Parts: sequence; structure tokens; C-alpha cells
Amino acid sequence: MFTAMFTAMFTAMFTDMFTDMFTVDDQAVGPHDASLDHERLVLEARDVEFDWAELPLHYVPDEPFSTHVLNVLHLLLPAGEEFFVEVFKKALPFIKDDQLRLDMHGFIGQEAVHSQAHSGVLDHFAAQGVDVTPYTDQIRWLFEKLLGDRPRRSLRRQHSWLLEQVSFVSAIEHYTAILGEWILSAPAHDAIGTDRTMLDMLRWHGAEEVEHKAVAFDTMKHLQAGYWRQVRAQLVVTPAMLWLWIRGVRFMYSVDPQLPPGTKPRWRDYFRAARRGLVPGPMRFIRVVGDYYRPGFHPSQLGGLELAVDYLAVSPAARASH
Ligand SMILES: [Fe+2]
Ligand SMILES: [Fe+2]
Repeated sequence: MFTAMFTAMFTAMFTDMFTDMFTVDDQAVGPHDASLDHERLVLEARDVEFDWAELPLHYVPDEPFSTHVLNVLHLLLPAGEEFFVEVFKKALPFIKDDQLRLDMHGFIGQEAVHSQAHSGVLDHFAAQGVDVTPYTDQIRWLFEKLLGDRPRRSLRRQHSWLLEQVSFVSAIEHYTAILGEWILSAPAHDAIGTDRTMLDMLRWHGAEEVEHKAVAFDTMKHLQAGYWRQVRAQLVVTPAMLWLWIRGVRFMYSVDPQLPPGTKPRWRDYFRAARRGLVPGPMRFIRVVGDYYRPGFHPSQLGGLELAVDYLAVSPAARASH
């Protein structure tokens, strides 16, 4: 009991000290003007479930390349979104805007379910004898050690590191919003017969990414991250994401039992799949990635909200969760 009291006192004292160190910007929480009020949704975590028992290894039929580009999401997101949840739980005590706090709770709930949903696909791979742990162990190290907490640092440096972590999450969320909007409007996957359950999972996730696309950015601005920190985080995240994706696709090729040994992904496979609308094309990325560097940018300027709301109304998994 004594230990519990001591821990509670210490936590309260630590939080107070830390809160005082943070200067927040009450005006920074997203656009408050009436014209954009419709963008503010109540973010809800939907308790979805997916059955992977019938999932073919190449769930984009006859398209190992497109399947493995999508598979990189399953490799990265379980550890990545757990990291988001931990960072945002740590940031919550410093938030002085009720609406933002509410958004952050919704964001945390949604990302926790996303992480579990993608873990379910990894369990299915393991059951099929496809061992992805050599790659996912590295991703876990990246998020838990390289980008994780630095408890031995001074409070001031811990504060700065938390702000850096939030800025990384915001930079990554720019991509999840772009990818979310893309998968919601990728009819090529319906036409080619991509596995229905996988498509629903990706679109439900994509729709929630579009729903909460501004939360991390608003949190970063509320905690007074300046333009340089915003840009610096994205300058790290963009090449890192590209590198992780290329390595992830190569890795999936190396463990794919249905491909002839030694088969390697080629850039021409990417351009071919992009032309067919099965993966996002390069121009789309160049255009929207550039947005993040524009002074005055806010994620509410990205599109897709209507698509997201419409999809969540018909998604089999989202409907079954109610
Ligand atoms: Fe997510
Ligand atoms: Fe997200």
C-alpha cells in the first residue's frame, strides 16, 4: 500500500513538473473556423474482427508484387501503431484543449485496434509456416528502442524527445491518410478480385486513418512544435518509409513459398502494378508528400472524408462491430 501511495505521489509530481515545462498553443488545435466544423467527427474505435482462415497467400490474385506491397503494412503496423498509442498516452496529460483530448482518446482507441488487426494477419502467416519474425523483430527494435523512451535523460530532454516522437507520428500519419484515401478509391482491387476480407480490412483501416488524419498534427502544433521540427521529422520519415517498404517487399519475396527460389521484385513490377491501379502511383506520392512542407498546411486540406464515412457505413467488419 505504501508503495502504491508513493508511486501515485511520484507520478502526480512528475506529471505536474512535466506539464509546467510544456507550453501549449491553445490556438493551434486545427482549424476552428465554422467552415471546417464538419471535418470534426467523434472518433470511435470499432471493435472489428476478421477471419483469415480462407486467405490465399497471394490475396491479390496472380499478383505477388501487389500482395507483398500491401503485406508491408502488416509487417510495420503492429509495432508502429503500438508506438503511436504509447506516445499519445504520454502526451495526453499535457493537453489543455478539451476537443483535442477527446480526439486523442479516439485516436488511441482506433490505433490500438488497428495494431491488433494487423497482428492477426501475422498470426495467419505463422500458421501457414511463413516466418516473418526476422523482419518484424527489426521493426519492433526500431519503434521500441530507436524511437522509444529515453528515461535516463533530463526532464527537459525527455520533453523535447516526446515532442519529437509526436512529430514523427504526425509525419507518418500523413502517409497513412494518403494511403487510406487511395485504398478507398482503388476499384482495380474490386475488378481483379482481391480477397474480400482483406480489402474490407484495408478499407476499414484506411477510412479510420482518413477520419483521424489531423489528430497527430493538431497534437504536434498544440505542443508548439515549430515548422522546422515538422519538416525535419518528415525529412527523416519519408526516406525511412521508402527504405522499409523496399526491404519489406524484398523480404516477403524471400519467404514466399509459392515463388520460385531467387525471385526478386523489380522496379518494373512496381510501375506495372501502379499503371493498373493496384498500388499507389509515384505522381500521387510526390504531389501529396510535398503538401506537408507547405507553410500553412493542415491535414484537413487533404480529401477523402466523404469516401471514409460512406465506406464505414457499408464495411462488413465495421457494421458487425456495432
Ligand atoms: Fe492506424
Ligand atoms: Fe492513424
